[in-house]
Amino acid sequence: MSASITVTTRSVPNTQSDVPPSVFTLRRTAQLEALYTIIRNKDTSRGDFIFYSDRIIRLLVEEGLNHLPVVPKAVETPTGANYEGVGFEGKICGVSILRAGEAMEQGLREVCRSVRIGKILIQRDEETTHPKLFYSKLPQDIAERYVLLLDPMLATGGSAMKAVEVIMEHGVPEDRIIFINLISAPEGLKRLAARYPSLKVITGWIDDGLNRRAYIVPGLGDFGERRYCA
Ligand code: URA
Repeated sequence: MSASITVTTRSVPNTQSDVPPSVFTLRRTAQLEALYTIIRNKDTSRGDFIFYSDRIIRLLVEEGLNHLPVVPKAVETPTGANYEGVGFEGKICGVSILRAGEAMEQGLREVCRSVRIGKILIQRDEETTHPKLFYSKLPQDIAERYVLLLDPMLATGGSAMKAVEVIMEHGVPEDRIIFINLISAPEGLKRLAARYPSLKVITGWIDDGLNRRAYIVPGLGDFGERRYCA
């Protein structure tokens, strides 16, 4: 079997000293900032919120794929020349954290044809206040796959950590999970990286922090409300 190589072309390892090394952000171009400005604006319509958040999701999914291993692959081009390239190695699947994570499924389907996507529902246990698993449906062969874990907002990190725990209980090693989100709070990133240092996080933007209601600030409010409610 040929040795795999990992190509990371566009995502940027974070140089901010307080950001864990397992966290990668999108390149902060003016274009990206304009997209975020639209979705953060409280006056943006639901239609525009969906359209522009989908554009960011697409970029994030592409970045996530950059972290998957590839193997050398030679092909012949129509000119008759040989091209020494690479090919994808390993199978992937998506897992969305309900309900907001479902909004990212289409972005994954657009770049990975017939990808399998599992779902996890985690809610706060009213007795213990800890995140509790309410439902999960994961691909039966998930242990053999790389997992792209999808949830748009990383706030305290509680749901993400529970989701990673569930996925690992199904046999997926930590370093085969890539968590993809649009906006992260530093608090959540630190907690997640402290518990799961080999898990990679691809985030579009790292915000200032959390408010007293555990909303990310500046943030964009409740992602699910803005996406699903008129
Ligand atoms: N979930 C959201 O939708 N928004 C936040 O700010 C935090 C969690």
